[in-house]
Amino acid sequence: MNGSRDTGMNVLVVGGSGYLGAGITQACLRAGARVRVVSRRGTAAAGEGVRGDVRRPRLGLPADVLARVRAETTHAVLCFGPVSWATGPGEALETHDAGMRTVLAFLRELPALEQAVHVSSLLALGRAKGRVTNRELYTGQRFRNWYEYGKYRAERLVRDAMSAGAPPIGVVRFGPVLGPDPRGGRPDTEHGLPAAFPHLLAGYPVHLGRRGDFPCWVTDVHSAAEVVVTALRAPIGRRTWTWFDPALPTLREVFIEVCRPWGTVPKIVDAGPLGRLTRLLGERVGTVPELVDYAEPWFDLDPAVLREIPEPWPTPEPDYLGATGRALLAPPTVERG
Ligand SMILES: NC(=O)c1ccc[n+]([C@@H]2O[C@H](COP(=O)([O-])OP(=O)(O)OC[C@H]3O[C@@H](n4cnc5c(N)ncnc54)[C@H](OP(=O)(O)O)[C@@H]3O)[C@@H](O)[C@H]2O)c1
Repeated sequence: MNGSRDTGMNVLVVGGSGYLGAGITQACLRAGARVRVVSRRGTAAAGEGVRGDVRRPRLGLPADVLARVRAETTHAVLCFGPVSWATGPGEALETHDAGMRTVLAFLRELPALEQAVHVSSLLALGRAKGRVTNRELYTGQRFRNWYEYGKYRAERLVRDAMSAGAPPIGVVRFGPVLGPDPRGGRPDTEHGLPAAFPHLLAGYPVHLGRRGDFPCWVTDVHSAAEVVVTALRAPIGRRTWTWFDPALPTLREVFIEVCRPWGTVPKIVDAGPLGRLTRLLGERVGTVPELVDYAEPWFDLDPAVLREIPEPWPTPEPDYLGATGRALLAPPTVERG
């Protein structure tokens, strides 16, 4: 699990076998860190993989692993799932709420821990009203689904844990993260925004307010992972950062660029302001379920939040949206290792 230049960072990536976690693991290794990945399956595309479950005390780690984690971990990244927008309350809360409490208690038992980073989602802001910056979390918002509420609870717990004496935990928020899967294979189109891609590529219409001409805060997996590494190294301390592609592609542009390699022009239909009836109509005439609640501007995020991230910023991979479309041409992966 050695990186090429040993920085002395020994990073525990909880959820590191997943899509974003794999990107973060690779970025940590490139930065010269040692990396240990925890997930229920215990697999790791890079670094050392160990089995663990955030719902169990001390992550359910075997005694020998626990001893090494305690002795060696200097940094931690929390990027565990589930991530489905359709996840139910049981799974969302047992992981993002109860699981997060267990993880935070565990981090307090790591004597060498210098900095942890929680990977949050802009969706934790739900239907926030008014302009949102890195300061706001609860604005009286309602939530579209249990995933949003789960991510809200996780960030709430992290912020509440930032008391004096506790190890510093920073928060990095992302919108939808796109780009080819760092683990290889076909991108997962089961969840979130990517669930709309097969539908669009097959030539079916989607109904969007303003024809999707609003920012959707996407970024690519590589720049997202690099920002997490910056947060570990800067370090971020107890602050909150938000990262998205500074080019700010609109939802419409994202769909057009993902479809381009297929020679398909997405059929985006103007839904007007989506009232209850138009939403129901949208569902019937072909707006994918994942997209129905995200077919209008999500909230008003102040783009100046980017400036709180120290420069130089990572550059998103050129044409990561087209690369997402091209990766979808690969045959479906049966199961991730
Ligand atoms: N992808 C995005 O667009 C995006 C955007 C913003 C924020 N995020 C956040 O980033 C994190 C990772 O997202 P992702 O897209 O990489 O999801 P993912 O591919 O589904 O990965 C989730 C990871 O969490 C692990 N995990 C799930 N339940 C666990 C448990 N009980 N104990 C230990 N590990 C567990 C999974 O491994 P096992 O199943 O083997 O346990 C996997 O390693 C999530 O917290 C998500 O909210 C993602």
